[in-house]
Amino acid sequence: MYTLNPETADDWWEVEALYDLCFAPGRTALSSYRLRDGVDPVRSMSLVARDADGILAGAIRFWPVRVGGQPALLLGPVAVHPTRQGEGLGGLLIQSGLERGRAEGRDRVMLVGDAPYYTRFGFSRLNNVIMPPPTNPDRVLGYAVSEGAWDGVSGDVTRIDA
Ligand SMILES: CC(C)(COP(=O)(O)OP(=O)(O)OC[C@H]1O[C@@H](n2cnc3c(N)ncnc32)[C@H](O)[C@@H]1OP(=O)(O)O)[C@@H](O)C(=O)NCCC(=O)NCCS
Repeated sequence: MYTLNPETADDWWEVEALYDLCFAPGRTALSSYRLRDGVDPVRSMSLVARDADGILAGAIRFWPVRVGGQPALLLGPVAVHPTRQGEGLGGLLIQSGLERGRAEGRDRVMLVGDAPYYTRFGFSRLNNVIMPPPTNPDRVLGYAVSEGAWDGVSGDVTRIDA
């Protein structure tokens, strides 16, 4: 029903409009956006989902960051159009993105989000991984793409070019 493809430059503003629709106003003021400013998302893992008519239904982005100096990927935003939610598309975008990361040999993914949603995909709370404030530490979650990839990884989350 949906076709997933890597996001292209032509998709950018349409995806931004979807995020504006799905998130509260002021989303770009969140501290996680300071890690992304002027940084390109990981194109191969950042996906757009379109229906048979080409209408955008959902999107996910991943960004390169560092955690305690180690490379990691920051998942987000992920959003599904309100009229398409609850059909499994959010899960499909997350799992497809993670699978692409695994195929590429990526090590670890983190995000700031609702644990009750993301635990079903294998995310769990990251202790001692510090997002720029203000961030609720309970919402800082990680997923080991390669086994044990978060073991011993801690510290500040910083921009890839910091
Ligand atoms: C979160 C989001 C991407 C999920 O997409 P989706 O296609 O509706 O998700 P799925 O169909 O794969 O999964 C739906 C399930 O997730 C649950 N769920 C969705 N958001 C949740 C949340 N924030 N916390 C807990 N559970 C959540 C639903 O209740 C539903 O549960 P069920 O399977 O027991 O019925 C979508 O709701 C969305 O775009 N929300 C607004 C933007 C947002 O909050 N993004 C995430 C930022 S952390």
